[in-house]
Amino acid sequence: MSSQPQTKHPLRLAVLGSGRGSNLRAILEAINAGTLPATVVTVGSDNPQAGILQIARDHRIPAHSIPEGPFKTKLTPEAESALASYLADFKPDLIVLAGYMRMIKAPLLETFPQRIINVHPSLLPAFPGLAAWEQALQAKVTETGCTIHFVDSGMDSGPIIAQERVPILPHDTSETLHARIQLAEHRLYPEVLRQFASGQRPLP
Ligand code: GRF
Repeated sequence: MSSQPQTKHPLRLAVLGSGRGSNLRAILEAINAGTLPATVVTVGSDNPQAGILQIARDHRIPAHSIPEGPFKTKLTPEAESALASYLADFKPDLIVLAGYMRMIKAPLLETFPQRIINVHPSLLPAFPGLAAWEQALQAKVTETGCTIHFVDSGMDSGPIIAQERVPILPHDTSETLHARIQLAEHRLYPEVLRQFASGQRPLP
């Protein structure tokens, strides 16, 4: 028996986001450049106007609008069950959260155990929650970063997979700092996915 890690080509990714989609764009660029052996099988968003859905359409990837429902921070259990079953039909290896602004609950966690990952704009466990770059500025720390982590039922609390450090410069504003963190995200997310795709980092 070989001791080499099992290689799975291409890794099937289902991406969820609520906003601009710059992380999805970075992932697609890595796939198109041939550095990430993966395929984005569907993109879902709870914001029908989100740029991430337009990026999906531009790449002829199935773009799914998730009904917003009555709460801002979570889907109803029924809506999340419907989302889980929509995603399961694509047989994804990983659910990739890229700026998805809702808490993940039992229907998704139970359908995809340890298969949901997220990018967060701080060095977790520091600064979980919203606008983590502003939290870092207010705390007057000199360094922050971004984290890729598995998703559990808590707020940005699942096991950490990888982090990249980002310096905070003396004249940083909220915008300049967030932009620098996003550049790090755009390096780190495709790299972590490449490690899963190559078997270098085994899927649980
Ligand atoms: C990223 O900064 C990510 O850390 C946070 O939401 C933002 C999403 O940006 N969770 P984009 O939609 O990928 O441009």
